[in-house]
Amino acid sequence: MATEVLEAILNRSSATRLVEPAPDRAQLETLLRAAARAPDHGRLAPWRFAVLQGESRRILGDAMAEVARARAPEVGAEVLDGERRKALRAPVIVAVAAAARPHPKIPEVEQVAAVAAGIENLILAAGQLGFGTMWKTGAAAYSPIVKRALGFDEADQILGFVYLGTAAGLAPVRNAEIDGVTRWL
Ligand SMILES: Cc1cc2nc3c(=O)[nH]c(=O)nc-3n(C[C@H](O)[C@H](O)[C@H](O)COP(=O)(O)O)c2cc1C
Repeated sequence: MATEVLEAILNRSSATRLVEPAPDRAQLETLLRAAARAPDHGRLAPWRFAVLQGESRRILGDAMAEVARARAPEVGAEVLDGERRKALRAPVIVAVAAAARPHPKIPEVEQVAAVAAGIENLILAAGQLGFGTMWKTGAAAYSPIVKRALGFDEADQILGFVYLGTAAGLAPVRNAEIDGVTRWL
């Protein structure tokens, strides 16, 4: 593994705030290709992407507000506006879903794992291009309302909303602790 790859992995941290400039169309395509190069048992390409930028971020914001209203019909306009604003916290959001389906040889967990690996590829590639990221989920990720709004199939599982842009702040780099979670056999 190239030294710079290892350094990028060990020094990665999430952005705390994301602003313009965002990756452009060509850069976004590069990031999606990086995701689609994750290890993929059976080459099933189980990833599905929905790219939200500019005004289209409102599709997610409106769906998140709908989710909040469905959970608690009495919520006020302020809460709903807060949900809508969440989708504007970054210039670009890539929603990533796993289209894991029953397969004679490849268990669904492996298909989901491939997509999760793809998200990390995307995050690392974004860092290499000079952009920051936040991997988020929350109730919206598990809502059929959101899946429908973004054009995913009901059976797809949204594994993350990758918020993308220029990092205006970064979380501290965590120590990669392996003691206590490793047995050297
Ligand atoms: C599947 C998944 C879902 C996550 N969802 C959220 C989330 O909704 N909100 C959040 O603050 N962090 C979420 N995180 C964690 C952050 O993306 C981040 O990795 C974590 O806060 C550690 O910070 P670091 O990336 O700087 O080490 C999620 C991580 C994963 C793997």
